[in-house]
Amino acid sequence: ESFKKYIGFTSKSKLEKLNKIEGNENLKYFNGNIVWTKFKIEKVESDVEYVYDLEVEDFQNFIGNLIINHNSRWATHGRVCKENAHPHTDCKDEIAVVHNGIISNYRELKDELIKKGHKFKSETDSEIIAHLIEDLIEDNSEEGYIKAVKEAIKRLEGSYAVAIINKRFPNILIGAKNESPLIVGIGEDEAFLGSDITAFLEYTNKAIPLYDGDIVIIKKGENGLDIKIENNGKDVKREVIEINWDINQAEKKGYPHFMLKEIMEQPEILKISSKISSEEIKKLAKLIKDSEKVYFIGMGTSYHACIYAEYLFSKLGKLVIACDASEFLNKGVVDEKTLVIALTQSGETYDTLKAMRYAKERGAKVGAIVNILGSTATREADITVLMGAGLEIAVCATKTFTSQLMIIYRLFIEFGKLLNKDMAVYERAIEKIPKYVKEVLNKKDYIERVTKDLKVNNYIFISRGINIVSALEGALKFKEITYLHAEGMSAGMLKHGTISLIDERMDTIAIVPPKNSRVFNSIISNIEEVKARNGKVIAITPVEIETADYNIITPNVIEEISPIIYAPAYQLLAYYKAVQLNRDVDKPRGLAKSVTVE
Ligand code: G6P
Repeated sequence: ESFKKYIGFTSKSKLEKLNKIEGNENLKYFNGNIVWTKFKIEKVESDVEYVYDLEVEDFQNFIGNLIINHNSRWATHGRVCKENAHPHTDCKDEIAVVHNGIISNYRELKDELIKKGHKFKSETDSEIIAHLIEDLIEDNSEEGYIKAVKEAIKRLEGSYAVAIINKRFPNILIGAKNESPLIVGIGEDEAFLGSDITAFLEYTNKAIPLYDGDIVIIKKGENGLDIKIENNGKDVKREVIEINWDINQAEKKGYPHFMLKEIMEQPEILKISSKISSEEIKKLAKLIKDSEKVYFIGMGTSYHACIYAEYLFSKLGKLVIACDASEFLNKGVVDEKTLVIALTQSGETYDTLKAMRYAKERGAKVGAIVNILGSTATREADITVLMGAGLEIAVCATKTFTSQLMIIYRLFIEFGKLLNKDMAVYERAIEKIPKYVKEVLNKKDYIERVTKDLKVNNYIFISRGINIVSALEGALKFKEITYLHAEGMSAGMLKHGTISLIDERMDTIAIVPPKNSRVFNSIISNIEEVKARNGKVIAITPVEIETADYNIITPNVIEEISPIIYAPAYQLLAYYKAVQLNRDVDKPRGLAKSVTVE
């Protein structure tokens, strides 16, 4: 009975144990196996970790070898509800599809299919894929099915990573990719399709990242797996890469949340990113020197790292522009003498990739600073620097951010050397960064205590100079996981509007630059201005500020590295506040680790 719950096929011996199989119309022999050809579709509206507690059948006892799953759907068309959850099937419930991305011509395809009598069960764009395949099937053979899938994919416009199964062909899994990431995992006698390597890293570290336009047909035959990739109707060979990440990184190792574990890992990670990629960093530094215009582009936290680059390079008299990648097409000025450096942890952020492609089409050189080997950005950039941050599981970027800063800092040093500047003091500072970061992490109990006194719903993060990066990133960390309103800005901007909000219902987090900074005194005055308006002030500071209500003391370092050193302080502040508020720290509502839609 339990066998009936599942799709896929199993070995004869396993099946015999289950008895009661004779005469069942959903069973057939295939390659010497008895094949169960019935779909079991389960949909739940919940976080993936709660699936086991819900009415879903017992996954542990799954028998069979073909399953498609889509979790944490990030709604594009149709609200979050069971009907809109994937997989989606055709009218006959024979073809099941999961899809990531947006089918931009789904309306016209849907109208056409409705006219032909197709009945839709969801409000999604994705469902049309199953119906379109059904519509295009001319005969019931395997070839007929595969041909229909290819035809259907040809008609799709927009972005997609899809996985398709057909219960009449339980030995075939088909994937197709355009603009959304799709990676094949190759195990021993098993294969996977995932948007991300981490989806199957537990089972195999061998992967084939697919390219736009690729269709992969994975068949299980008598002689094992057969994986065929086509692009535009032609067979293509794609490189198999091996990921040397330790899957143990995907465990919490005693920490209550991945975010805390990843914050605490930073000294180690920074050691790694201070050592890797030397050659690429040098090449990129040379490109910066040779280019007339240089942009650093990114989204979210990665965009904040771009601002760090803007400040650092200005110290060497080089204008580089930090640009929100989603706005790059609207304001970027690009030609052959332009260099665009994309900062993207995942290497899959839609807006960042789009901006990279835009730059390339206009003849610009494109560099990428990326954490995920084999990701789209690494394949499309002319030159890639890997960050070495390891696997980051929490949606909230922490160690990937500081390792981005480390890479940019090293790029700055290499660039300075190309200009024959004396960069020795900066080089020496690198060695000490992990130790300084550890010192800040050691303040974690005090930071937790401080968060108990953060009782209001509105927060402002201010700083000056290069630590504008810290103010912006501090506010982003805080709001994304506490769900409390937080804004980051330059302390200079405060007087031009926002200060009118300051009273006992708005707390201020002041990131005080190191003592030798030319903006040190100004920020002290700004703290006093906040206090004069009854605002509470939490200072992240290298020296005790008397007027502040709380002082989170950091080592006094050179200003250029201070954004790396301050990061753990505000990361922990956000973390402990979110824990107190019982928030879903690792998976904050409405956010995704990599945003692969526009
Ligand atoms: C999402 C993540 C952020 C991240 C941003 C850019 O919004 O939740 O943490 O900063 O994407 O991601 P990327 O992979 O391009 O760095």
